[in-house]
Amino acid sequence: MAQASATLGHDHGDDVVAQHRKNVEASKALILSRLGGLKPKIAIILGSGLGALGDKLHSPVRIAYKDLPGFPIPTIVGHSGELIAGKLNGVDVIALKGRKHFYETSDPYPLKTMIRAMKAVGVEVLFVSNAAGSLRADIKVSELMAITDHINWMGMNPLVGANDDDFGPRFPPMTDAWDPALRAKLKEAAKKTNVPLHEGVYIAFRGPMFETPAEIRMAITLGAQAVGMSSVPDCVIARHCGLKVVGCSLITNMGAGLSDEKLSHAHTLENAARGAANFEKLVTEFVKLI
Ligand code: HPA
Repeated sequence: MAQASATLGHDHGDDVVAQHRKNVEASKALILSRLGGLKPKIAIILGSGLGALGDKLHSPVRIAYKDLPGFPIPTIVGHSGELIAGKLNGVDVIALKGRKHFYETSDPYPLKTMIRAMKAVGVEVLFVSNAAGSLRADIKVSELMAITDHINWMGMNPLVGANDDDFGPRFPPMTDAWDPALRAKLKEAAKKTNVPLHEGVYIAFRGPMFETPAEIRMAITLGAQAVGMSSVPDCVIARHCGLKVVGCSLITNMGAGLSDEKLSHAHTLENAARGAANFEKLVTEFVKLI
């Protein structure tokens, strides 16, 4: 097992697991040494095109992922790879700007390190955001959808391999993976800020391609309302280690075949920018309510 490769996404050897524990500990120590008086209970993963919120924090403490042992270094445009701690609406938060997707790597450990380090520094709630395609005509481009549940259609699971019981159990339940009470607070924040907020199930494909129209029809049949290439692994890792999860999708396009628009990453970022202001309003109010 010593030779087991982390890059296959399974069968990690003892050396990989031990190194991961060291990375979580070292990242924890570095983050804690930099937080000053901040005691964040919430970490916010900023999805594609939503990173600007990280730059709105007051008294920011910035740590590049490359300085955090084991953290994921993003490789694509729109994801910068930086942890920013600071105050949002008077509340201590950590913003995680960028992460590595499972179309960039088969190695789940960088994402595990990032999320478990959040738990290790005292975070209790993980807010997950993403850019997604809509699977319903009434959920329109630039609108937001609170995630009620997810379907893991990625063909992989970040928890495959040796389980480290110190982080969480072998068979974690996913019944209330997306926390209903926190989602109620998110809806309250939406009402207060007049931001339209849909609700629905998010299905994750692994990517890195946009889906075919047939796959989109399948996703609709399976009961999803939005489609993307992220967030499910984040939620699974977070729930496994006991973090509560809440989050939303910013709709950047209609799913393939549901409109005439040509799908591209540039287009996704362009449409994300149009909805980002509402996202920021919503999250800024939400952190005050939890
Ligand atoms: N499919 C998958 N991922 C996405 C999409 C989509 O239509 N839009 C934004 N991310």
